[in-house]
Amino acid sequence: MKQMIIEGNNILSGNIEIGGAKNSAVALIPAAILASGESTIKNVPNISDRDALIDILELLNCNVKIKDNELTIDSTNLNNKVIDNSYSSRLRASYYFMGALLGRQKNVEIYIPGGCNIGSRPIDMHIDGFKALGVKVEIEGDKYILSADKLVGTDIYLRFQSVGATINIMLASVLAEGKTIIHNAAKEAEINNIANFLNNMGAKITGAGTDEITIIGVETLHGAEISVLPDRIEAGTYLILGALCGTNLTIKNIIPEHLESLTTKLKEMGSNLIINKDSISISKVSELKAINIKTLVYPGIPTDIGQPMSVLLTQSTGTSLFEETIWENRMGHVPSLNKMGANIQVNGMSAIIKGPTKLKGCDVIATDLRGGAALVIAGLIAEGITTITDVEHILRGYENITEKLTNVGAKIELKEI
Ligand code: EPZ
Repeated sequence: MKQMIIEGNNILSGNIEIGGAKNSAVALIPAAILASGESTIKNVPNISDRDALIDILELLNCNVKIKDNELTIDSTNLNNKVIDNSYSSRLRASYYFMGALLGRQKNVEIYIPGGCNIGSRPIDMHIDGFKALGVKVEIEGDKYILSADKLVGTDIYLRFQSVGATINIMLASVLAEGKTIIHNAAKEAEINNIANFLNNMGAKITGAGTDEITIIGVETLHGAEISVLPDRIEAGTYLILGALCGTNLTIKNIIPEHLESLTTKLKEMGSNLIINKDSISISKVSELKAINIKTLVYPGIPTDIGQPMSVLLTQSTGTSLFEETIWENRMGHVPSLNKMGANIQVNGMSAIIKGPTKLKGCDVIATDLRGGAALVIAGLIAEGITTITDVEHILRGYENITEKLTNVGAKIELKEI
């Protein structure tokens, strides 16, 4: 087990280079098996979710090479196997092998996915989408057995703009017969990244990034190349940190438009930020105004930024309201923040946050990926030493986080316990 030890109350300055988006990479990697051939995925973040997916590719007899942040995947000799719990439970995104194996071989046996403890995390919309395409679904305990003689395109209406369901249905339908239209599709930036990769392979997808995506099925797909887009959630996490303890902290390799909902809120709070073509520089200010934030699907404030944002609200003058609308349990980090001296009152999926409150370092436990990131931010601004346990949650989604923070003046180390 790993622990992070942080000595807080330092000013951070310099450049943080943002890596490829976790939530795009974890879909692009399974998508590669749709092509019978070799594909290259560039700018893949060096995170544990990447490794969990490579283990599944190798279970399926794919040949995988990693060189720095570049993955080469040859799925010519794909050999379909049951993806058991020891693989599927390591991350939520293992479920993308459902759509990818259905697309490529019209059958898949896989156990239920894992993922952060932020809610019940059903996958009914994925399953309903597969059924609409003609897939037979059997459930044996925790195992899904999905099979079809053929997949036939159709109109699919999502009751919620689910990122995962949108992507999984795209994966399953690119080699189906005929046309599929996904109505009420998710519009997160990652959807475009996956659609571009599939189109580079020879798929026929239009409308990605809008709420109506059309897929015209094709016979086969060939290997292709794609680069993972910059991680807007990693970037947003470090921007929030800069607003709290930065002096000219520059977050580089980003697409500012993907962060507009956050930068608008930071300006509303009185933050001092300079937005450039592919970077944002931010410095702390003497007083931040309390505001209300409500997480929404894109282009609203991303749910994954809510927990880091809640730390910012503990340092804002006045009473703020933090409303989470996507996941039932995005407050797992609040007891640790209150233990450090914050004044947060949780009421279901929302919280009243009074500030500013002085935070003091202490021993805390990460409960999930973004809650863990919030505790890192809190430790970096607190007086004294903060020890975070169960940091494996954080390492799933933040590439080289201790190196990136040390490079800008943070006193943070990772140790095995
Ligand atoms: C993706 O999860 C991300 N994960 C999440 O990031 C992110 O919070 C979420 O999208 C929303 O942006 C990955 O991409 C691996 P959803 P996903 O389907 O696809 C309900 C992180 O920290 N729902 O958009 O699972 C669900 O319960 C992670 O990086 C159903 O009811 O999210 C939730 O309320 C956390 N049935 C809502 O939809 C379904 O079949 C959002 O789900 C699917 C979802």
